[in-house]
Amino acid sequence: MKSAFLALPALIAFCVAWLVQMEAASARKGDRELGQYLASECVSCHQASGRQSGGVPSITGWPDEQFVAVMLSYKNKERDNQVMQTIAARLSNEEIDALALYFAEQKQQK
Ligand code: HEC
Repeated sequence: MKSAFLALPALIAFCVAWLVQMEAASARKGDRELGQYLASECVSCHQASGRQSGGVPSITGWPDEQFVAVMLSYKNKERDNQVMQTIAARLSNEEIDALALYFAEQKQQK
């Protein structure tokens, strides 16, 4: 009987930890889907294959923090490029995070 009382808090703690983990996983999945959706605009210039084309650099396979930092520098107009400043200015920080996650996972194709 006594052991049942001890087991209950442990069971509750386990369930809470599990729920928190599931929520984090589904948030990440949501970000990925959002990233993919938003990326359709980007890949009209940046090659989805990760190849460089014309004057447009490759943006796949970047560490996500670096990607976010560059997008924010366009957004804050610290980095100069009219096209990218306009695009970045329209994106929320959540959308930039989602794009960073998506492009970081795209493999560079040779
Ligand atoms: C109209 C064409 C165009 C579109 C659309 C576009 N970009 Fe760009 N992007 C460029 C060009 C050109 C550059 C190079 C600018 C420079 O020299 O600073 C660039 C640069 C970048 C860079 C920096 C690359 C580097 O090597 O420093 C990132 C990151 C980036 N774009 C992300 C995006 C994302 C994310 C989107 C979609 C939301 C997007 N771009 C949409 C043309 C485009």
